Amino acid sequence: MDFSAKSLIAGQYNWASPTPSATRSIACPMRRTTLTQFLVEQQRSARAIKPELRLLIEVVARACKAIAVNVGKGALAGMLGNAGTENVQGEAQKKLDVISNEILMEANEWGGHLAGMASEEMETFHEIPSRYPKGEYLLLFDPLDGSSNIDVNVSIGTIFSVLKSSDELGPVTEKSFLLPGTSQVAAGYAVYGPTTLLVLTVGTGVHCFTLDREMGSWVLTQSNMTIPEDTKEFAINMSNMRHWEPPVKRYVDELLQGKEGPRGKDFNMRWVASMVADVHRILTRGGIFMYPRDKREPDKPGKLRLMYEANPMSFIVEQAGGAATNGHQRILDVRPGKLHERVSVILGSKNEVERVTSYHLA
Ligand code: AHG
Ligand code: MN
Ligand code: MN
Repeated sequence: MDFSAKSLIAGQYNWASPTPSATRSIACPMRRTTLTQFLVEQQRSARAIKPELRLLIEVVARACKAIAVNVGKGALAGMLGNAGTENVQGEAQKKLDVISNEILMEANEWGGHLAGMASEEMETFHEIPSRYPKGEYLLLFDPLDGSSNIDVNVSIGTIFSVLKSSDELGPVTEKSFLLPGTSQVAAGYAVYGPTTLLVLTVGTGVHCFTLDREMGSWVLTQSNMTIPEDTKEFAINMSNMRHWEPPVKRYVDELLQGKEGPRGKDFNMRWVASMVADVHRILTRGGIFMYPRDKREPDKPGKLRLMYEANPMSFIVEQAGGAATNGHQRILDVRPGKLHERVSVILGSKNEVERVTSYHLA
């Protein structure tokens, strides 16, 4: 492979074709699998999705491209800073939280594939207006994940979850959305980082697409991502240690003892504070991510949101061979009581997640 600066600058390195050849300089884009081709394939051969779900995913992916463009403009287009409003969870909204939410709402309203939408940034759900045809799916999203990283130019993202409405053509209510994560038919996230990525599952493994910014297309760059069962890397906000419950304290304390402790090996720690980036690292090289319930707000079962963050990420992680629990049960089995419900999250490499869970159940 020719990784020389000359070759890279000339744009002649084609990752899909490592064999040097005279045709390499032509860099045939047809050899790549785009998101559209992938989805058509999933519809035709794997029969994993219906045409309406294919449309839905394509529309969400297009909206993520639009969000990526706005994220990329940053200060040049006044994208940084607070919007001056608060969301339903009492968090100060950033301008990009609001803009990303609007982009996803507008993109998905008219296509006829949805019955309703719900977002971390909206007080209540949004029913598709009667002037548009109504579909059978429900779309839930965290439009901009990692908001505290926007102004410091660190990776942020979008997380989405798709449920199939059981209400047929009747009116959508909050109850329509209150389905366990096992009812998801698709989930994914975009990462707006050094490259823009889309990671997707429709229940047939986890696949990663990279945005070709010149072509404007999502190109399949990794199929069937898998999370190693074991790891030496953990992710948790250590500043909350004094608020944790005993099982999490015990687990992290054992990790910190390294080779000399009961685990007999040294562990490394990472915390990006954007769930998308932390989960993406785990999908790439393994690890365990925890945002456990803590004593700061005793009546809340955690910080992260079940419907917009924990469920889609747990679906993805399980599809990649990992595990996700709230310490007591599989996250995907949790029956939501309300739209903005929060949950304790422990996900990633299977053996580590099982260990922390066993400490909770002991
Ligand atoms: P959001 O920006 O959508 O509110 O989500 C932030 C979440 C999650 O992405 C991250 O893992 C966590 O909050 C970080 O929380 P701390 O700042 O408490 O570490
Ligand atoms: Mn989030
Ligand atoms: Mn958010």
